[in-house]
Amino acid sequence: MQAYLLHEAGGIENLIVSEIDKPTPKANEVLIDIKAISINPVDVKIREMPKLLDQVYGTDRPLILGWDIAGVVTAIGDDVTDFEAGDRVFGLVNFPGHGNAYAEYASAPAKQLAKIPSDTSFTEAAATTLAALTALQVLSPRIKAGDKVLIHAGSGGVGHFAVQIAKDIGAYVISTSSADNRDFVLSLGADEHIDYKTQDFEKIVSDLDFVLDAIGGEVLEKSLRVTKDGKSIISLPTPEFSDKTKAYAKQHDIDVSYFNVTSNGDDMQTLKTMIEKGTLKPHVFKTFAFTALHDAHRQVETNHTVGKVVVEA
Ligand SMILES: NC(=O)c1ccc[n+]([C@@H]2O[C@H](COP(=O)([O-])OP(=O)(O)OC[C@H]3O[C@@H](n4cnc5c(N)ncnc54)[C@H](OP(=O)(O)O)[C@@H]3O)[C@@H](O)[C@H]2O)c1
Repeated sequence: MQAYLLHEAGGIENLIVSEIDKPTPKANEVLIDIKAISINPVDVKIREMPKLLDQVYGTDRPLILGWDIAGVVTAIGDDVTDFEAGDRVFGLVNFPGHGNAYAEYASAPAKQLAKIPSDTSFTEAAATTLAALTALQVLSPRIKAGDKVLIHAGSGGVGHFAVQIAKDIGAYVISTSSADNRDFVLSLGADEHIDYKTQDFEKIVSDLDFVLDAIGGEVLEKSLRVTKDGKSIISLPTPEFSDKTKAYAKQHDIDVSYFNVTSNGDDMQTLKTMIEKGTLKPHVFKTFAFTALHDAHRQVETNHTVGKVVVEA
């Protein structure tokens, strides 16, 4: 089969198409004929940062990047009871760890997958994996109906799912993006939009119950100042917070934490149900052919993707 191998961290050109053996599913795994994968900022970060690559993959080289998979089960390993050959499945595979998605086939733990809703395409399903799970895993245990919630970058991969999930929970949602994506963010259900390029959100919102920060740095500093004492912020880009952030948070009893999404089949099942109910809809910004996977990385690197970028087999 064909796969993109990465021999060492670096530029996009380090992702090299190669011919390798098809994997064999181990016990509790299924072999997936991959039809679509989605690309995230973390794919870019791990591809280009040697330290992060070592943290996630250890010393194994070459390796196959990628975690967001949609495809068809072609074989099952021992002890798999929930899936059979022919099932259409999607999931975030082995994150954080060896996802092996940039390939024609991948073997994946059955407990990390769900069946794709019958009216959903492989492309839409692949889009509804890491970013959607992040939004779900962050928001569902932390917010409740009536909470006033700020979601930064509501037009992005995580943000566009987060706005929809927060609205489904019953929160009052304020979300940021540039003016170009105002209508898109409002169409997701956001109650208010703030254009981060021309407006200072610190002067517009206050007394928040929760902030989902997909930006970090100064945006996180300002987010602290508009959050109610005793409430919480999840920041996605990095677990490293400045001393200033930590001191302000302590003084105001604000829980500022990093969160790392993890593979979870039960949560995939929740996303499947939400898609079926019509409360969650992925937005696919651009699709790329498998042979143009480098261009998909270039798109994610712009930091201006609206919704998700998907690579189709
Ligand atoms: N820790 C975890 O588990 C986890 C999981 C998922 C993602 N993440 C991290 O979370 C971050 C966001 O991920 P993503 O997939 O949502 O990224 P993304 O899809 O690439 O985000 C792009 C969006 O961000 C908006 N944006 C850019 N700068 C902004 C700003 N200053 N204020 C508000 N919006 C801004 C852009 O809107 P405009 O085009 O309108 O500017 C664009 O729509 C990344 O750092 C990613 O690595 C972490």
